Amino acid sequence: MILVTGGAGFIGANFVLDWLARNDEAVVNLDKLTYAGNRENLAAVMDDPRHVFVQGDIGDGDLVSRLLAQHRPRAIIHFAAESHVDRSIHGAEAFIQTNVVGTFRLLEAARAYWVGLDAAEQAAFRFLHVSTDEVYGSLAPDEPAFAETRRYEPNSPYSASKAASDHLVRAWHHTYGLPVLTTNCSNNYGPFHFPEKLIPLMIVNALAGKPLPVYGDGLQVRDWLYVSDHCSAIRRVLEAGVPGEVYNVGGWNERPNIDIVHTICALLDELQPRPDGRSYREQITHVKDRPGHDRRYAIDARKIERELGWRPAETFETGIRKTVRWYLDHPEWVARVQSGAYREWVRTQYAHG
Ligand code: NAD
Ligand code: TYD
Repeated sequence: MILVTGGAGFIGANFVLDWLARNDEAVVNLDKLTYAGNRENLAAVMDDPRHVFVQGDIGDGDLVSRLLAQHRPRAIIHFAAESHVDRSIHGAEAFIQTNVVGTFRLLEAARAYWVGLDAAEQAAFRFLHVSTDEVYGSLAPDEPAFAETRRYEPNSPYSASKAASDHLVRAWHHTYGLPVLTTNCSNNYGPFHFPEKLIPLMIVNALAGKPLPVYGDGLQVRDWLYVSDHCSAIRRVLEAGVPGEVYNVGGWNERPNIDIVHTICALLDELQPRPDGRSYREQITHVKDRPGHDRRYAIDARKIERELGWRPAETFETGIRKTVRWYLDHPEWVARVQSGAYREWVRTQYAHG
C-alpha cells in the first residue's frame, strides 16, 4: 500500500480518487483537515476498504511512525501543505510549521521506518515530495521557462517554505540515502479546487453575482495544469523516476490571469447565461495587487517527457471547460466549503479592493 499525506485537499483528493479508480493497491490517507481539507472530496471512497483515512498532523512524529509500522507502505506521497500565497502573506506561522517542520518530521519518521526494511524493500521504497514551480521565483517576459537546474529564488512566505522543504528532502537523500523523488509543478486547476484560488474563486463569484477581483493589471502569467494530468505525472514519477532526481511538471499552457478570467466568463455566458442576458465580464474589477506578486511562472517540462515519457493529456480549452462544468454540476459542494471560516477569509482579503 501507499501512504498519502494531505489527501483531503485539492490535488491529494484527486490523486486518491484516481489511484483507487485505477488499481487495487490500498491508500492510507493522513490529513489534518485544515480549512483546505474536506472529507467530502473523498465521499466516493470513504466506505472503500482500500482507503484508510486518518485525521492527524504530519508534524506528529509518533503518529506517523505508528502508521508506517502498522501499514508498511512501499511509498509516501507527500501533498500535505499550507498552499495559499495570500494566506502566507497574512500569516506565515502555519506555513513554517507544516511545510518546513512538518516535512522534517515526516522525513525523520520515513527514514527510521526505511532503515528497518529489508534490502529489497529499501530499494523499492520511495518518498515522493510534491512541490511547486514557485520556488524558482519570477521570470521576465522573455526568459526561458524554469528547468530543474534553475536556481531557487522564492519570493513569498509560501514559496520560501516550500523551497525549504525541497532542500530538506534533497538533504535526506544525499545524507541518509532515503530514496526521494521531487516534483515541482505549475498551477493546477480542476474539480475540488478550494474557491480561494483564482479559477474556482472566479467561477463561484461569477455565479453568485459578485465582483471578479483581478489583482493589479491582471497581466501576471501562470502555467496551468489540469489536476488529473498532475496525478498521472506523479504516478509516472513514482513508477519510473530515479531516486534523488527532480522533475518539473507543467501543462504547456502559459496564460495571463486576465485571459483566464475572460475564458471563464465566456464559458459561463455559454453554459449558464446571466438572467439579465449580460456577460459575466461586467463583474470583472481590478483590485489592489498582491505584495511582492510574482510576474510570471513557466515550466520547462521536457525532462519528464524525455526521461519518463509523460505529457499532459488536456489542453487548457478542454480542461477549463471540464472544470467550469464540474462547478456548475456541484453547487452543494461549493455551498458546503463556503463555511464561516471561508467567509471570514474573503472579508479579510478583499475588504479594501
Ligand atoms: P490544499 O491546500 O488544497 O490541500 C492541502 C491539504 O493538506 C489539506 O487537505 C489539508 O487539510 C492538509 N494539511 C495541511 N496541513 C497539514 C498537516 N500539518 N498535516 C496533515 N495534513 C495537512 O493544497 P493542494 O492545492 O492540494 O496542494 C497539494 C500540494 O501540491 C502542496 O504541497 C502544494 O504546495 C503543492 N502544489 C500545489 C499547486 C496548486 O496549484 N494547487 C501547484 C504546485 C504545487
Ligand atoms: P492563485 O490561484 O492564488 O495561485 P498562485 O498565486 O499560487 O499562482 O493565483 C493565481 C494568479 O491569480 C496569481 O497571479 C494571483 C491572481 N489572483 C487574482 O488576480 N485574484 C484573486 O482573487 C486571486 C485569488 C488570485
